[in-house]
Amino acid sequence: MRISIASEANDMEQRMPRITFVDHKGERRTVEVAEGLSVMEGALRHNIPGIDGDCGGACACATCHVHVDPAWMPRLPPASELETAMLTLADEADEFSRLACQIKVTPELDGLVVSTPESQY
Ligand code: FES
Repeated sequence: MRISIASEANDMEQRMPRITFVDHKGERRTVEVAEGLSVMEGALRHNIPGIDGDCGGACACATCHVHVDPAWMPRLPPASELETAMLTLADEADEFSRLACQIKVTPELDGLVVSTPESQY
């Protein structure tokens, strides 16, 4: 019994935060993303459709635009002035829009849900 509890605790410590991406058709993909990566980097590593990340995360292209689940918006750090300015270039941006490259994955974001557009262009 003691070994089982220790093993479960170890599993919990080693599990990476899970991010769910919902595509334009409503298909959900939940992937684990290492802490410290951005949501954009996690998407690219898992071949999530709808996120391009053309500038590599420099907040210079807006091709990582996502819509954050409204329930999660208050739990994210606020967008910087640069991110807010870049979001004006994104199609169909709204109050739930963020650039995925500017969202760093932390344990607190385990369960984050974002929607991806059909295309970034
Ligand atoms: Fe270019 Fe996010 S990857 S702005």
